[in-house]
Amino acid sequence: MMRILFVCLGNICRSPTAEGVFRQKVLDAGLQQHVEIDSAGTGPWHIGKAPDVRACRAALERGYDLSRLRARQVALDDFRRFDLILAMDESNLGDLRQLDAGKGSAEIDLYLRRYGLHMDEVPDPYYGDGIGFELVLDLLEQASLTLLDEIRRRL
Ligand code: 4NP
Repeated sequence: MMRILFVCLGNICRSPTAEGVFRQKVLDAGLQQHVEIDSAGTGPWHIGKAPDVRACRAALERGYDLSRLRARQVALDDFRRFDLILAMDESNLGDLRQLDAGKGSAEIDLYLRRYGLHMDEVPDPYYGDGIGFELVLDLLEQASLTLLDEIRRRL
C-alpha cells in the first residue's frame, strides 16, 4: 500500500484536481487496493468547501468528478500517515518543509519536479482567466501517468 497526499495553497483548485485525476488513473489501472490518495491545502481559508466551480467544470469535461471533495488543511499527522507528499509549487513545498521540520516519515517533493516533463510548478490558476485550469489539467494528467508507472514498479 502506498499513501499519497497532494498539496496546494487552498485545496480548492490544483490539489483536488491532482487527487481527482490520479484517482481516476489508479481506478483505470485497477490499482485502487494499492494506493490511498488524498489532498490538502497549506492555508485555512477554504476548509470544508467544495473545489472551485471552474476547477470542477474543467475537470468534468475531461471525465473527472471533483464535486464530492471537500477542502482541508494540512495536519501534522499527515507527515506520518502518508508515504509521499507532493506539492504543487515551491511555496507549498517550503511551507510543508517548515511544518514538518524533518520529524515525519513522509517523503516531500514537488509533484512536477519528480514526475513532470517541462515545468517544476503547477501555476496557481485562482486569480487568472479560465485557461489556467486547462494548463493545470494538462500538467496533472501527464504527471499522473508517470507517478502511476512508479507505483507499478514499486508493487
Ligand atoms: P489552490 O488555488 O491553491 O490551487 O487551491 C488557490 C485557491 C485559493 C487561494 C489561492 C490559491 N486563495 O488565495 O484564496
